[in-house]
Amino acid sequence: MIKPKVEKVINKQINAELWSAYLYLSMSSYFESINLKGFATWMLMQSQEEVNHAMRLYNHLIERGGRVKLEAIDAVPTEWKSPLNVFEETYKHEQKVTGLIEKLVDTAEQEKDRASLNMLQWFIDEQVEEENSADEIVQKLKLIGKSGNGIFMLDNELGQRVFTGDITARQTQQQ
Ligand SMILES: [Fe+2]
Ligand SMILES: [Fe+2]
Repeated sequence: MIKPKVEKVINKQINAELWSAYLYLSMSSYFESINLKGFATWMLMQSQEEVNHAMRLYNHLIERGGRVKLEAIDAVPTEWKSPLNVFEETYKHEQKVTGLIEKLVDTAEQEKDRASLNMLQWFIDEQVEEENSADEIVQKLKLIGKSGNGIFMLDNELGQRVFTGDITARQTQQQ
């Protein structure tokens, strides 16, 4: 059975992942409002991935005999200055999440919870990818600058993203 300290921090992380989902959904609706459908799709997929992250932690708690406690999700921003501003905020947010995951790992280490450590390894790898993909788009947007053509092309590219996960799956291997 999972230790109360680990249970507590995993519940906090479930809330943080759901807040991330809420943030990216808000960013998606911002892109819809400025007619960048591809950017909006990318953010919608990003939001669904975050729900998936929450579900991984949720399933882990249940499998370990823990209790999931869902708390209020704080409000998220609704306006940004530009697509670049959105992705700079995304990159910053992912760096913050990486810090949260590292703290979670510290707690699991202190409590000698090897099953949680194993589960969290996936999140460590995922955060490398998350930071990288946000930063890549920041760099592209910086290159593009104010070119409408460039934004149009990037919008097409980002619109190709598809959601591959399954939030109902119990297996922690699933994305
Ligand atoms: Fe996440
Ligand atoms: Fe993320």
